Amino acid sequence: MTDGPLVLGIETSCDETGVGIVRGQTLLVDAVASSVDEHARFGGVVPEVASRAHLEAMVPTIERACREAGVRLQDLDAIAVTAGPGLAGALLVGVASAKSLALALGTPLYGVNHLASHVAVDVVEHGPLPEPTMALLVSGGHSSLLLVPDVTRDIRSLGSTLDDAAGEAFDKVARVLGLPFPGGPFIDRAARDGNRIAIDFPRGLTSGKDRQHHEFDFSFSGLKTAVARWVQLREQAGEAVPVNDVAASFQEAVVDVLTRKAVRACAANGVDDLLLGGGVAANSRLRALAQERCDVAGIRLRVPRPGLCTDNGAMVAALGAQLVDRGRTPSRLDLPTDSSMPVQQVQA
Ligand code: KG4
Ligand code: ZN
Repeated sequence: MTDGPLVLGIETSCDETGVGIVRGQTLLVDAVASSVDEHARFGGVVPEVASRAHLEAMVPTIERACREAGVRLQDLDAIAVTAGPGLAGALLVGVASAKSLALALGTPLYGVNHLASHVAVDVVEHGPLPEPTMALLVSGGHSSLLLVPDVTRDIRSLGSTLDDAAGEAFDKVARVLGLPFPGGPFIDRAARDGNRIAIDFPRGLTSGKDRQHHEFDFSFSGLKTAVARWVQLREQAGEAVPVNDVAASFQEAVVDVLTRKAVRACAANGVDDLLLGGGVAANSRLRALAQERCDVAGIRLRVPRPGLCTDNGAMVAALGAQLVDRGRTPSRLDLPTDSSMPVQQVQA
């Protein structure tokens, strides 16, 4: 086993109760209990349902993580927990649990930023992060382009979505197409049998003044509306909707914009390494097109495996271990949650 601090991470910002344990940059366990099935019939995450599910899953998930990693709680060097951004009630469950553990064990506590954790997690897969790294984080709750000189204390936002998050657009379009929630994986699958140039859907904020003013921002709500309208016109005309082609063309519009802007951000800032994170980074076409465009631009691409791209506890533990390593000060035991914690703030 490699050296480094033994850190347990707790993540409850959305609908996944994640508990991960790392030793330095080695992942020991990544235990996740998801309440996604409980939200499916509502077509989106219901905050109160998520909070209750976290409460029920927390202790069993911590116990399972320790058992599978062969770790005793009293051996931990630190506990890290997502303090924000995320659903207020859901965050409270994780932070209260982490505080209780830290207090009972006398262990340092680090309240951390969810987005910084999405960036930090890649060390367990691909080793130390180059400094600086460019990060494209795309999930159901966020779409951000970040310049990261030091994930433990210096993260700069270059752009983010002005309306829907990328994953949200996938989920809403899936609904229009009659596919289940969460829609991303189903669109990904349907798109494999579709033609991505069948329909020329709009690429938000990529031309004219919009592009000038929002070079690294994203907008997906116009695209979502365009898809809904296209499908509606077909249905009104009594024609069958070519689901696979719509899925492929929609997906292409999203990943074209994401990869184009990410590669341009690297060039504009002289950064040679691009990291993808968040649930949408599991998308097969995003991974392929990002690789293609990075190869052309001479950029190294880092993408954690899908299980580490979606929300999990390992990412929080991984950031915690890097904070310990760099000698950052632990959080106070009365640290607050912050549902809209700015990305520039790594620690609470
Ligand atoms: O990071 P995540 O697990 O939770 C947060 O939203 O923070 O991301 C979930 C999002 C959902 O919107 C889901 O549809 C999307 O990630 N997603 C995908 C794929 N797998 C998950 N989107 C596109 N393609 C996928 N393969
Ligand atoms: Zn996330």
